[in-house]
Amino acid sequence: MLLLTPVLVAIVCILMVWIFKNADGSSDRKKGEPRAEAHPWVDKDLKDSTDVHQEEAEADEWQESEEEVEHIPFSHNRYTEKEMVKRSQDFYELLNKRRSVRFISNEQVPVEVIDNVIKAAGTAPSGAHTEPWTFVVVKDPDVKRKIREIIEEEEEINYLKRMGPRWVTDLKKFRTNWIKEYLDTAPVLILIFKQVHGFAANGKKKVHYYNEISVSIACGILLAALQNAGLVTVTTTPLNCGPRLRVLLNRPTNEKLLMLLPVGYPSEDATVPNLARKTLDQIMGRPLCVSRNLSTFSSTLSLRRPGSVSEIS
Ligand SMILES: Cc1cc2nc3c(=O)[nH]c(=O)nc-3n(C[C@H](O)[C@H](O)[C@H](O)COP(=O)(O)O)c2cc1C
Repeated sequence: MLLLTPVLVAIVCILMVWIFKNADGSSDRKKGEPRAEAHPWVDKDLKDSTDVHQEEAEADEWQESEEEVEHIPFSHNRYTEKEMVKRSQDFYELLNKRRSVRFISNEQVPVEVIDNVIKAAGTAPSGAHTEPWTFVVVKDPDVKRKIREIIEEEEEINYLKRMGPRWVTDLKKFRTNWIKEYLDTAPVLILIFKQVHGFAANGKKKVHYYNEISVSIACGILLAALQNAGLVTVTTTPLNCGPRLRVLLNRPTNEKLLMLLPVGYPSEDATVPNLARKTLDQIMGRPLCVSRNLSTFSSTLSLRRPGSVSEIS
């Protein structure tokens, strides 16, 4: 027994060394294989099967940015506090009137307005200023009809087969199904594509950092701009339709469909579900702090439930 103890200690030590050596997953790599590059800008939650896996591509296919950029004075509009309160209140009230409208009339909308709202969307911030978005505007009735055909075909399968009963039940209150009349009636469809990578002038690929987050921000600005212009839309994310729509519109393979917005005026008999929005208290979180760290913050803490999780006041 006494002899066995040092042997056991030795085995445990060897095991620990082996575990530490393999903790970075290097044992999964075959000899000579390059170490997968870390891409912290790729949020795993936002990865989908259509993303280009940058780590798989050859390193010399990618262009490093070498541009020098001049830095210039920043121009800023400063308002009085009273003006700021009024402007922020007015903006909130404008956006609070935005609703997803699924009944859109066929009345034409001014081309210039569509150009302006897309220009507004294009002001969005983007990872490393890569501007990884493409807004495809479709007005041609034949193309709209083909888009509707593709979406209704896929959506019918989504409703009846792909998605579970919970999805169908959750959507019941919106009275939606796979029939999407607005795809024909809306005078304009805007299809928003994320560019999973770009191209440099020499044809090499350019990394588009955080492309999905960047394009989503642009879509938010687009929705606000449409509301500001007095037009309506409904945010749609046609499930499993991206590749077919990309091919239909003859878009390149580095573009993946993120969103489709039918745009126009509401039809006269348009209705919307009577939904309530969360209040400020419900959406404004406070930093939470676990009680064992309290000593660090003791002067700024107001304890709600002693001994558990508390709020920083
Ligand atoms: C990412 C996203 C995807 C959506 N997809 C659809 C969709 O495919 N079809 C649809 O009718 N509405 C869709 N909606 C609209 C939501 O149902 C709607 O925003 C929500 O019910 C709140 O209503 P409101 O926009 O009128 O405030 C989507 C919204 C978001 C943000």
